[in-house]
Amino acid sequence: MYQLRCLLVVASLVVVMWGSSSTLVRTVQAMIPPPVVQCNQTAGCILYNSYGAWGDRKDCRVPTVVYPTTEEELRSAVANANKNKLKVKVVSRFSHTIPKLACPGGSKSGKALLVSTSNYNSSIEVDVANLAVTVDAGVSLRQLIDRVEEANLSLVAAPYWEGVSIGGLISTGAHGSSWWGKGGAVHDHVIGLSIIVPAEENEGYAKVIRIQAPDPLLDAAKVSLGILGVISKVKLSLEPGFKRSVTYNFTDDAKIEDEFMDHAKKYEFADITWYPSRHTAVYRYDNRVPLDTPGDGVYDFLGFQSNSILVSKSTRATEKTMESARDVNGKCLMASSFVGFKKLTANGLKNGLIFTGYPVVGRQGKIQTSGSCLYSTSSVSSCAWDPRINGLFFYESTAIFPATKFGDFIRDVKKLRDLIKPENFCGVDIYNGFLIRFIKASQAHLGQSEDSVVVDFNYYRASDGSTPRLNQDVWEEVEQMAFFKHGAKPHWAKNRNLAFLNVQSKYPNLNKFLAVKKKLDPQDMFSSEWSDEILFGKEDNYNNKDDGCALEGQCICSEDRHCSPSQGYFCKPGLVYSEARVCRYNSSPPPSSMS
Ligand SMILES: Cc1cc2nc3c(=O)[nH]c(=O)nc-3n(C[C@H](O)[C@H](O)[C@H](O)COP(=O)(O)OP(=O)(O)OC[C@H]3O[C@@H](n4cnc5c(N)ncnc54)[C@H](O)[C@@H]3O)c2cc1C
Ligand SMILES: *[C@@H]1O[C@H](CO)[C@@H](O)[C@H](O)[C@H]1NC(C)=O
Ligand SMILES: *[C@@H]1O[C@H](CO)[C@@H](O)[C@H](O)[C@H]1NC(C)=O
Ligand SMILES: *[C@@H]1O[C@H](CO)[C@@H](O)[C@H](O)[C@H]1NC(C)=O
Ligand SMILES: *[C@@H]1O[C@H](CO)[C@@H](O)[C@H](O)[C@H]1NC(C)=O
Repeated sequence: MYQLRCLLVVASLVVVMWGSSSTLVRTVQAMIPPPVVQCNQTAGCILYNSYGAWGDRKDCRVPTVVYPTTEEELRSAVANANKNKLKVKVVSRFSHTIPKLACPGGSKSGKALLVSTSNYNSSIEVDVANLAVTVDAGVSLRQLIDRVEEANLSLVAAPYWEGVSIGGLISTGAHGSSWWGKGGAVHDHVIGLSIIVPAEENEGYAKVIRIQAPDPLLDAAKVSLGILGVISKVKLSLEPGFKRSVTYNFTDDAKIEDEFMDHAKKYEFADITWYPSRHTAVYRYDNRVPLDTPGDGVYDFLGFQSNSILVSKSTRATEKTMESARDVNGKCLMASSFVGFKKLTANGLKNGLIFTGYPVVGRQGKIQTSGSCLYSTSSVSSCAWDPRINGLFFYESTAIFPATKFGDFIRDVKKLRDLIKPENFCGVDIYNGFLIRFIKASQAHLGQSEDSVVVDFNYYRASDGSTPRLNQDVWEEVEQMAFFKHGAKPHWAKNRNLAFLNVQSKYPNLNKFLAVKKKLDPQDMFSSEWSDEILFGKEDNYNNKDDGCALEGQCICSEDRHCSPSQGYFCKPGLVYSEARVCRYNSSPPPSSMS
């Protein structure tokens, strides 16, 4: 009976998903994402991220928020803060970063300032002759791309999600996928930037530093996590406009570990999506073609489309029910129908209004990045994770491997899958499986010093942080295998806290970065306890291990109380990576379990 009900729910989800993509309903109250800063008289202001939750679930309270519109207003905001000894952070209109990087220090003492770049988005200067564009840091990725494409030029690299600002995305090392040319990371296309830093009184308390390639300062500033100063302008290199021709091959996953390198070399915009429970790998064949190639396709990625709020809520409710019923098969049913739906709809690729067949050919500006849920015009549909609707809520782990080590990681994950049965991996296939992308070696101090492979995987997060999750031991083991066995680095803008443990030892140029920091921001005006936690990932941050800290990735468990013994979750070694320590369910624990 229960299975049947699940099947019906899933079937109706699929139907409604179809419905929402050919949106019929248009009403007045559009569900665009809510503002990320909300203020009121009693509570002051609170900064949220786009999911409405930071890793530690504590609000980011700030006494003051300013919204400069020009570079001079930005400069004077920094000058005032310097004069008054305030701690400062910048946040964009989007606040799409998962760690609490944008939260200023000093909030408790009220000596903090948040600078929003939300209204600093007016200037986009395209230099056609020199194939470059210079923008205000608050300009959104979509604004930039549309302007560049109008001039028949293209920005080659961009993250797949367009709801980000240029200042924010380069600051965290955001990327798409490519091992060709300058590669898939956007900061490797940055050829100049301006940054506002504190200065002496006789210099007006703050000054703008203009940096052009090949100035080595650029290597520190282009991926600087908001802790060097406020980036005001960014100059990016462009290429003559082009189109792309994209085909997805849904096939078996037997040879991913042997094929990923050739695949990345053969296709300029290659990626691979791996659904481990389905034994399915989806190879993206994606190369550029000349502008005059016929085709006006778009990539409106399924996961970033507006979803009926009803569907988002019922997907969440179904997943929650399956979690509490420990219903692995229900999750697998959901995973298999979602993967089937993605195959049918080519993940959201469209030749015109709908998908009619491969290859889909379209302009770079319409293929590289998407996010149509940002512009929802309806009151009944929104981004699936909109914090106002009790929709999807999940973790995003992103591990960046030296290319030579990636094959071993895949082999280990397969070993684990085959040991515990593939069904226990269904939870990740309900989201996007393992998304495998490619970025090239970079000069940026906080970028990748060698050609790398990036893996994203998303999985269920409980609404209440003290609730353990079905198969959480599996995700914890994969996470620890990635970051501690195979030496992956965490993406700065994603992940749970434990992924940043010992991160400083993984960046050979971290000291160069810190030397620049000391020079530009000697008073640590742009540092906070939150960004220190990410940048220094020190063991001390994790010594204060509260009960249940491993459930939300605030620590790695070493005692049962770090999991949830009362709910049957105990701290155990990993099954393939025996050094891992994970919270595993056991309905009848032995009297003296590991403590
Ligand atoms: C649905 C979704 C999909 C995503 N897809 C991808 C993807 O495909 N690839 C990828 O790499 N990432 C991806 N991300 C992560 C995203 O690209 C990064 O989080 C990005 O940094 C967010 O940009 P933002 O403008 O929202 O920055 P914010 O979150 O506002 O800020 C990010 C950091 O940059 C700093 N900052 C912002 N503006 C400035 C400035 N002007 N000067 C100095 N510092 C500044 C902030 O202080 C903060 O530390 C995704 C995130 C989400 C939620
Ligand atoms: C102000 O915000 C706080 C925190 O979000 C909330 O608890 C409170 O109810 C709000 N007060 C008013 C008057 O809206
Ligand atoms: C800047 O952002 C505002 C608010 O979202 C938007 O209306 C405006 O079009 C943007 N400016 C430019 C130049 O695109
Ligand atoms: C861009 O290219 C198209 C097609 O070749 C042409 O019609 C248009 O004038 C060009 N636009 C610019 C700004 O050069
Ligand atoms: C899909 O991939 C498989 C395995 O690599 C290959 O045998 C097959 O020819 C590919 N199909 C297409 C249409 O390219």
